[in-house]
Amino acid sequence: MGELVKGIILAGGTGSRLWPMTLAISKQLVPVYDKPMVFYPLSTLIAAGVRDVLVITSPDQVELFRRLLGDGAAFGISLSYAEQAAPKGLAQAFTIGADFIGDSDVALILGDNIFHGVGIGTELSRLGPLDGGRVFACHVARPQDYGVVELDEAGSPISIAEKPAQPRSSLAVAGLYFYSPDVVELAGGLRPSARGELEITDLNAVYLSQRRLHVTVLPRGTAWLDTGTVAGLVQAAEFVRVIEERQGLKVGCPEELAWRNGWLTDDELRTRAETMPGSGYGEYLLSLLALPRTGST
Ligand code: TTP
Repeated sequence: MGELVKGIILAGGTGSRLWPMTLAISKQLVPVYDKPMVFYPLSTLIAAGVRDVLVITSPDQVELFRRLLGDGAAFGISLSYAEQAAPKGLAQAFTIGADFIGDSDVALILGDNIFHGVGIGTELSRLGPLDGGRVFACHVARPQDYGVVELDEAGSPISIAEKPAQPRSSLAVAGLYFYSPDVVELAGGLRPSARGELEITDLNAVYLSQRRLHVTVLPRGTAWLDTGTVAGLVQAAEFVRVIEERQGLKVGCPEELAWRNGWLTDDELRTRAETMPGSGYGEYLLSLLALPRTGST
């Protein structure tokens, strides 16, 4: 059993499907409507109560992420950075992050995944200590594009496969994973796949073979968006715009969630807002101070 959950945002990769947008900057710095993409996964971790976060990026992008996110003080958290020399797979996050993880449970979120919907934060923060791995599955129209998990009638996983030609279910494994600290050792034992990557699906298959893989099927009311393609990016931007315009509340605003968690004081939120004068984002942060903190979660 691990200590408090730590979080890793995996924000490296090639982003080749978004070229030329991602030739000079990382995919996770590309905007999704009114904020950089990485704000969304960061918000999900904060909503889940994760206060110690490692951002893994490609070496030439670390300084840009540091300029954007700093040491985490703006979000009431601790942020550190590590480099992935080459995109050798999602499971490499755990060998790169080995010292950071130590004896803690760890949540990994992909930097280009957006989660929004009923109680995602509350649901995640209620998970409690882990034995093994917990993944989140979502019904999707094209499971063959993802890791696919098959469940028995009791909801326990019976198979998991990466981008199968003939998917055994329509449940895709979303880009948010929780593991106990032995993930470091298990990831270290993986061999690269045919495409030369350390596959997270292979890691999950190890937990499955040990009967230590748990699956939470996200409710229909929870949106899971993947912004890795041009179509996905535009859809995500439109989704965020529609919700924000209708509700007057932002999706993926890490300062707001930190403030609601009590990790930022009113004064700290105001100071942060004042670093962005003249922007709708800064004005939004100021407007929150006029609302009751517990409302509109
Ligand atoms: P992908 O979208 O599968 O890969 P990619 O970002 O390199 O994009 P493309 O396929 O268009 O070339 O990656 C999913 C997420 O994981 C994304 O946020 C990038 C990140 N990632 C890494 O940080 N390191 C890696 O080794 C890989 C494979 C992905």
